[in-house]
Amino acid sequence: MSTTPTHVAGDVANLALADMGKKRIDWASQSMKVLQIIRKDFIKNQPLKGMRISACLHVTAETANLAITLRDGGAEVVLCASNPLSTQDDVAACLVRDYNIPVFAIKGEDNDTYYAHIMSALDHKPHITMDDGADLVTTALTKRTDVLDVIAGTEETTTGIIRLRAMAKQGVLRYPIIAVNDADTKHLFDNRYGTGQSTIDGIIRATNFLLAGAKFVVAGYGWCGRGLASRARGLGAEVIVTEIDPTKAIEAVMDGFRVMSMDEAARIGDVFCTVTGNKSVLRKEHFEVMKDGAIISNSGHFNVEIDIPTLEKMSSSKRTTRAFVEEFSMKDGRKINLLGEGRLINLSSAEGHPPSVMDMSFADQALSVDYLVKNHSTLEKKVYAVPEEIDKRVAKLKLESMGIKIDRLTPEQEEYLASWSEGT
Ligand code: NAI
Repeated sequence: MSTTPTHVAGDVANLALADMGKKRIDWASQSMKVLQIIRKDFIKNQPLKGMRISACLHVTAETANLAITLRDGGAEVVLCASNPLSTQDDVAACLVRDYNIPVFAIKGEDNDTYYAHIMSALDHKPHITMDDGADLVTTALTKRTDVLDVIAGTEETTTGIIRLRAMAKQGVLRYPIIAVNDADTKHLFDNRYGTGQSTIDGIIRATNFLLAGAKFVVAGYGWCGRGLASRARGLGAEVIVTEIDPTKAIEAVMDGFRVMSMDEAARIGDVFCTVTGNKSVLRKEHFEVMKDGAIISNSGHFNVEIDIPTLEKMSSSKRTTRAFVEEFSMKDGRKINLLGEGRLINLSSAEGHPPSVMDMSFADQALSVDYLVKNHSTLEKKVYAVPEEIDKRVAKLKLESMGIKIDRLTPEQEEYLASWSEGT
């Protein structure tokens, strides 16, 4: 059944910021060469003509370039934030003023506004949903039975995919979704190098803390944790990793990090950062033994990795000491510093991932949307991988844009790799 969207220009902090936003979008676009190639192709072939897309993503300069690419491919795009603290207000203003893309996102919006903005994005009656954390799909599923035109969707991050797989398992997922996060050209680079660098950037911008010589505790040694640990080590920190998965723990040990339980790490760490996608990773028993002045932060998708309600209860007072730093005074006199309200620190106090890494993630997004428009009728209500040809094409284009050539298999090598009879 086809339904009619409600047209609203959006809800942004201040349209007067648009000039600054334009500069940031242009700056990011210079490092997003693969996306620009796709954009040129989209302008020519209009593969998304007539498609309404609602995207719930971090509203950053990189996301703006994706939204513009989709719009130039013929789609009507609206954008809302996938986190209350991650919006770049100047970018949001520019998209509304200069690109005619409605945006519903204001940095620092409260939870009610955050969900009201998701509702507004769903008023667009999308054919395609794009999510980063699955809040758009979840809201459509639980609160918006009137959103009937959706043919397919994409998901950007690990946590969103976990939620969507749970929906598919329960049989409640209403349409096929492509798990963009799981493409090699996404998580191997975005989660590892993007989160690694930008999380350190966020912690430093918030605190101006010297990492050299500090004990830096990384909770979770997945794709994000690997990147974060290696970047913290690069700045001279003594890195400690905590894990619940024995294999990942061995990997961290062999990568040269100290591995221990959080019970032990909590006593000695100077700076903590959770990147697990799990909840209450830092909790009461850890706050009880932390050093005076400990800094705690999170770069996992949701603000549940640090048990903030318990920290509030355990403290006698709190005050804001710097932008994005809240100092909790514990009843025994120790202070614990919480960064960015426990929300992903790389997007709260810094600018998120650098554009050259988002180039690949968003190339995967754009090509996955194109694929879904062409193939949705053959897909079931399941979570799908990014087709291999898209993943490989993005890698190839990225290498080309970096001016790097690699070898090709010779016919003899191809034959050798395809045979089983040749031994010594
Ligand atoms: P992953 O699945 O590769 O790694 C998560 C790791 O955490 C796993 O090794 C798991 O065993 C471990 N873990 C789970 N519970 C734990 C606990 N209680 N203590 C210690 N370790 C625990 O996931 P990935 O891709 O590294 O993502 C992690 C989180 O970061 C997700 O929420 C994801 O959505 C988010 N993310 C954030 C980004 C950002 O910009 N800040 C970018 C990309 C992902």
